[in-house]
Amino acid sequence: MTQSDKPAANTMWGGRFASGPDAIMTAINASIGFDQRLYAQDIAGSRAHAAMLAATGIITDSDAKAIREGLLTVLSEIERGKFTFRTDLEDIHLNIESRLTEIVGDAGKRVHTARSRNDQVAVDFRLWVRDQCDAAISSLTALMQAFLAQAEAGADWVMPGFTHLQVAQPVTWGHHMLAYVEMLGRDRSRFADARKRMNECPLGAAALAGTGFPIDRHMTAAALGFDRPTANSLDSVSDRDFALEFLSASAICATHLSRFAEELVIWSTAQFRFVKLSDKWTTGSSIMPQKKNPDAAELLRAKIGRILGATVALFTVMKGLPLTYSKDMQEDKEQVFDAADTLMLSLAAMTGMVSDMTAQKDTLKTAAASGFSTATDLADWLVRALGLPFREAHHITGRLVALAEAKGCDLPDLTLAEMQSAHPDITQEVYSVLGVENSVRSRQSYGGTAPDQVRAQIARWKAALA
Ligand code: ARG
Repeated sequence: MTQSDKPAANTMWGGRFASGPDAIMTAINASIGFDQRLYAQDIAGSRAHAAMLAATGIITDSDAKAIREGLLTVLSEIERGKFTFRTDLEDIHLNIESRLTEIVGDAGKRVHTARSRNDQVAVDFRLWVRDQCDAAISSLTALMQAFLAQAEAGADWVMPGFTHLQVAQPVTWGHHMLAYVEMLGRDRSRFADARKRMNECPLGAAALAGTGFPIDRHMTAAALGFDRPTANSLDSVSDRDFALEFLSASAICATHLSRFAEELVIWSTAQFRFVKLSDKWTTGSSIMPQKKNPDAAELLRAKIGRILGATVALFTVMKGLPLTYSKDMQEDKEQVFDAADTLMLSLAAMTGMVSDMTAQKDTLKTAAASGFSTATDLADWLVRALGLPFREAHHITGRLVALAEAKGCDLPDLTLAEMQSAHPDITQEVYSVLGVENSVRSRQSYGGTAPDQVRAQIARWKAALA
């Protein structure tokens, strides 16, 4: 290769290089294809840094002014689609700095004083993930409100409660909806906790060791809305635990969404008919004219796969990395971007589906009475009314269930004589506990399924979300 055939050395860091990288090296090395999503954070970080450099006398006020204004020009170029992203400039940081220098001249070459791309990317990415925590919190609030509205509409509607997907005991629709409000409430607090912990500013850690320039890290931290600067420069540039926390919280949240999605798939079948999903969240079949498929629910059941995949991928990238920064860490962004996009879309879709679904009150009630769902109430009555030990009451009830099953009827359909064949002291009063409405009304323990308890929890959540 002659000198003139060689690719040119990088204009931003190529001083010690005789030639530029191989084309394939450029392809594997460049992150601009995806990290351009960090442009607003990168510009905010650089503007805060420039103001601090001037306030501490490291650069002149006029250079800082030129840099800060030039960065706004770059921002507007990017937002208007007028910016050319260059792969040879690797990443968003060098692309913006290079364009800044084209616009403002020599002042642009001073913005990187007392800074490295290592602390720059750390601050950009934290700012981005912090915004996603805020977005997740507000989307979760909207979804919780949708579940609460469902709970309020059917606080006392009875439905079967399941264990092993076998009918267990009657519960109320409101209670079932509130179970998801609890889960999503914990998801929300996980994002809030993660946000709080990540809200320390790594800017000023420079490459890894800090800097000899008299910078003011408290000033940049405050300007960017952080609670304080990070306290160890090595840690600042080398950890991505804030992203891992965001991904972990997202994976748990997506697991919750997946579980309700599965319930919707089951509940909307012709066999269950517990809910009608609206036309807005279902699709038809190209061959079977009768079909209304719960596609949104099925996709929400599946989305956890992507989010958990991203989580596992980033854990795998980070494990075993020696301190401090290694280029491996550039592999953090696509995972987090995809997981965040997937989560926000999932939360929006679930909110729409929950708001638009219609519970089938009568079907729920009929189903609530099937499968000997009040057998526990019968056993409890034997304990209360006849003073039997619970284990004995359980056994007697089991015999009555077997009898009803053999006759092909439900427990309340057995005659008093048949009841008494299991225990002679059983009286007519037993029938009062076999109705599903009485069953749920009796479950008054705190957090239980009784409509009064459900209404109390609805009131608590409404106040908490207001
Ligand atoms: N694009 C890089 C990343 O995402 C920025 C940091 C590069 N630092 C370096 N020393 N090469 O991680």
